[in-house]
Amino acid sequence: MHDPRPGSGSVDVRLLPSPDGDHADRPLTAAATPRLGRRALRHEQLATLAAPRRRYSLLARLLFVTMDLLYGRRRTLEKFQVLEVVARIPYQIWENAAYRLFTRRHRDGALARRIHERIEENREQQDNEQWHLLIVGELVRASGRKPSRVRFRVLPLLLALSYYHVAWLMFVLAPRWSYRLNADFEDHAEHEYAEYVAEHPELETVPHRSAFADRYGAHATVADLLRQIGHDERMHKEESERYLAEGRLR
Ligand SMILES: [Fe+2]
Ligand SMILES: [Fe+2]
Repeated sequence: MHDPRPGSGSVDVRLLPSPDGDHADRPLTAAATPRLGRRALRHEQLATLAAPRRRYSLLARLLFVTMDLLYGRRRTLEKFQVLEVVARIPYQIWENAAYRLFTRRHRDGALARRIHERIEENREQQDNEQWHLLIVGELVRASGRKPSRVRFRVLPLLLALSYYHVAWLMFVLAPRWSYRLNADFEDHAEHEYAEYVAEHPELETVPHRSAFADRYGAHATVADLLRQIGHDERMHKEESERYLAEGRLR
C-alpha cells in the first residue's frame, strides 16, 4: 500500500524537476506538495516576495479586512493559526460535492476517474492544511504566550462556520466563484508567510522540532518550516487556478 511518509521505504517517488539540484531526490508528501531543501526554500520565498499578489475579489478583501480588524494588521503566529482553522473548509466542501457527483455519474468511466482525482487532491490539501494548523499551534504554544480564549478559540469557530456557509453557497451558485475565493485566500497566505519570515530574521537560528515531523517532514529552523508552509500555499493556489481554468467537471 502506498505510504506517503517522507523517509518511508515504500514512498511514492514522484519527484520535482530540480533546477538547482537542491531537492532532486525529495519525494512528494501525502499532500503531494513538494518538500524543498534549504536553498530551494529561500529561492521560492524570494520569488513570492517579488511576485505581485492576485487581484483579490471583493469577498476575499472583506475576509482579510475582517481578519485585520479582529486580530490586528501585524502578522503573528496566532493570526496564522486562525487562518489555518478556516483553510481546510473549501476542500471539505469540494470533496463532499465530488463524492455526490461520483454517486450520480460513476457509470461514465472517464468522468468518474476525473472526479476521483479531484477527490484525492481535495483530501490531500485538507490533510496538508491540517498539518499546518497543528504545527503552527505547536509554535504558538512554544512561544509561551497565552492568546485570549474568546479571540483565538471561540471567534475562529464562528469564523469557520460563517466561511463554510459562504464557500458552500458560492460553490452551489457557481463553482468558479468558490475556486477564485480560494485562490485569493491561498495567494494571501503564501505572501503572508513569506513576509513574516522576512520580518523575523531571528527565526533563521531557531531550531525546529515537531511531533508531526514524521508526517509533514522535518525542517532545521523555524524560518525554513514557515517557508515550506508558504510554498505549500502556493501549490494550493495554483491548484485552485487550474480548477478555474478547467471549469466544471463534466
Ligand atoms: Fe495552510
Ligand atoms: Fe493552503
